[in-house]
Amino acid sequence: MRSTAAPAQRAIVVAVELPGADIPLDDDLAEALELTRAAGAQVVGSLGCRRAQVDPALFIGSGKTAELAEQVAAAQADLVIINQPLSPSQERNLERQLKCQVVDRIGLILDIFARRARSHEGKLQVELAQLRHLSTRLVRGWTHLERQKGGIGLRGPGESQLETDRRLLRVRLRQLEARLQRVVGQRVNSRRQRTRSETPTVALVGYTNSGKSTLFNALTASEVFAADLLFATLDSTLRRLELPDCEPLVLVDTVGFVRRLPHDLVAAFRSTLEEVRSASLLLHVVDGAREDQRQLMIDQVNGVLRDIGADQVPQIEVMNKIDLTDHPPARNGAAGGTERVWLSARSGAGLDLLRAAIGERFAAGLSHQRLHLPRCDGRLRAQVFSLAQVRHEEFQPDGSWSVEFDIRRRELQRLAPLLAAADALPATARPVEQ
Ligand code: GTP
Repeated sequence: MRSTAAPAQRAIVVAVELPGADIPLDDDLAEALELTRAAGAQVVGSLGCRRAQVDPALFIGSGKTAELAEQVAAAQADLVIINQPLSPSQERNLERQLKCQVVDRIGLILDIFARRARSHEGKLQVELAQLRHLSTRLVRGWTHLERQKGGIGLRGPGESQLETDRRLLRVRLRQLEARLQRVVGQRVNSRRQRTRSETPTVALVGYTNSGKSTLFNALTASEVFAADLLFATLDSTLRRLELPDCEPLVLVDTVGFVRRLPHDLVAAFRSTLEEVRSASLLLHVVDGAREDQRQLMIDQVNGVLRDIGADQVPQIEVMNKIDLTDHPPARNGAAGGTERVWLSARSGAGLDLLRAAIGERFAAGLSHQRLHLPRCDGRLRAQVFSLAQVRHEEFQPDGSWSVEFDIRRRELQRLAPLLAAADALPATARPVEQ
């Protein structure tokens, strides 16, 4: 809920199975319940139904709607979540019949994303997707609900804009698009720089709640918000990953993947997902403790990776949360197949195996150097810091400078002219390879 004082909305959750459904109705309902709780609502009832086809007016048909209306009244629910995309008119018709607010799967996921967006880019992306989703509903007469009240589907970064008229809404959408374009431009630039300096990127992907943020923190010893809720992370977050005997890497934490990610969101998060596509390695994090759901989640994530064109990027599967199972830390698979590491991001067991697995893939071509110069050369020092991973540097009272660093051999070529210039000084630079 937006205000801590406001009571949680009382929600009834409805899952609908249509022909050709990708998962069983029970799993669909279980997921919808989890998503609803993640949005902060109190679940006061649920309903699963199978339909041979969608009812154009009410989606679930008049019989089910009548049954649902009784349930809403009996449970004093003020919200119904339908775990399917609804058309604006279906949503409006259902609201009239049920006499309460109705939110579809897209509205629900957008709401969760709105609550969790952290970075400037993420907030813009969510607001844009949310306004696009809501604009069709706003303009087609949405006055029968109290818009001021807030709640699922009605809040988020774009909430204050919901009271504006169509013209203002369009202006806002244009402003957001322009702003987002600038931010995305910056991200593209930073990615280009990384590509130019050939810093490999390792991206964390995985089904929502699998433990990506926790692993990100454990690997980079940083604090990224981790919560026992779905979608704790929305935007990719970048950190440098330093492993012994390995060239510098950039680790990217990404959006939690979910089944049937709404298209609007895939579009909104394109720049984030682009990080995944251009990564050198994916760490596919799996909740290893949920044995029954494990393969399903792996398949869902691989499906999204295929959709965004990232299925060719090499993967290490990280079976996380082994502290909840009796599986020991282990490293297996590989030899043509996908390598698997079993670990616990929370307890740290098995993290060393993952570090070693990553390190082995990026160790090639790294060389360790030590330089000693009579005087610190500013340009050389700047270059060393931009191209290499500096382990240690020291300034002596006599003004001389020592530095020890790891550098890829091809980068060493770029330092060569400056080293030659330094060599011209009375006391020479002495690159020593170990
Ligand atoms: P999204 O941002 O929703 O995609 O989630 P995420 O994949 O980033 O998951 P997050 O790191 O937020 O972790 C989800 C929950 O799992 C949190 O409550 C974590 O504390 C918990 N968790 C993560 N790793 C472990 C682990 O190794 N063991 C146990 N027991 N819990 C873990």
